[in-house]
Amino acid sequence: MSVIILGIESSCDDTSAAVIRDGLLLSNVVASQAIHESYGGVVPELASRAHQQNIVPVVHEALKRAGVSKEELSAVAFTRGPGLMGSLLVGVSFAKGFARSLNIPLIDVNHLNAHVLAHFIKEENEMTKQPTFPFLCLLVSGGNSQIILVKAYNEMEVLGQTIDDAAGEAIDKCSKVMGLGYPGGPIIDRLARQGNPKAFSFSKPHIPGLNYSFSGLKTSFLYSLRDWIKEDPDFIEHHKMDLAASLEATIVDILMDKLRKAAKQSNIKEIAIAGGVSANNGLRNAFREHALKYGWEVYIPKFSYTTDNAAMIAITGYLKYLDKDFCSIELPAYSRVTLQ
Ligand code: KG4
Repeated sequence: MSVIILGIESSCDDTSAAVIRDGLLLSNVVASQAIHESYGGVVPELASRAHQQNIVPVVHEALKRAGVSKEELSAVAFTRGPGLMGSLLVGVSFAKGFARSLNIPLIDVNHLNAHVLAHFIKEENEMTKQPTFPFLCLLVSGGNSQIILVKAYNEMEVLGQTIDDAAGEAIDKCSKVMGLGYPGGPIIDRLARQGNPKAFSFSKPHIPGLNYSFSGLKTSFLYSLRDWIKEDPDFIEHHKMDLAASLEATIVDILMDKLRKAAKQSNIKEIAIAGGVSANNGLRNAFREHALKYGWEVYIPKFSYTTDNAAMIAITGYLKYLDKDFCSIELPAYSRVTLQ
């Protein structure tokens, strides 16, 4: 009999539901929340209200597109955390109620594990190259910058991580300082394509081991900009593209330096990238260049699986289902957690 998993994701500002049958993705519906743009960041209370409005239609649409009735589902997998508590509670409560009403198992998913396991999503008529264990994964998002050693789908070890800001957070904040929109990542990416990455230089951190730090870069960017604006009040407008390209290049260099070090130390050449910042074209190009230069086998996700989505929750749920790794209905959501 087929195993059909409904995945639910509501950790931040995307309400998403996906259906996977025997490891093959049938649907992945994402409702994003434009309301936060005018605030320059996610407003937690508005996010949870929007999740409440979106969750039922999004799940309904995911089942419809998959051509699956709710009675056919084998289990419901949901993001338990980390994330915004008010947002998580909407998805967690819905998943619990839905699974209970259908009398099927519940599967809790760690959002960070799911970003890594997005590389195992299979789609009809698409040849997806999947990493083999053990592999390294650079997980870079608005809340995380980590180098993870993935020994098995359910055994991950964090080798290094940011000691302050995440890479995405630094990009978003620098973009805000420049008066660009939110989220800054895609805007910086677009502008950087037309700029000179060597036009400006910003300070890079000197952190031992495999950890990252991005708060110094943010300050360096802010102070440099303040000085330049004193000379030319329209400095940002005149140098927008070069600023974006130089900022992006600095962040990519910082990320790749430590990743090279991790690859060398662990002697692993299977290297993946995941999380929202993995949509960045500069970072994706650096991955391809490293593959050629260092003989790495690299795994770069489809754009739709870089940012938050329920397909990654459903595939993680599917893998846990095969191990009968279910959870109790009493399990609470968690806002902060490391990898399991
Ligand atoms: O994984 P994600 O959707 O959410 C979490 O943080 O969990 O990541 C969002 C982050 C934001 O900081 C956003 O600016 C960044 O990913 N991002 C990008 C790009 N697309 C999204 N950063 C750089 N280049 C992009 N193309």
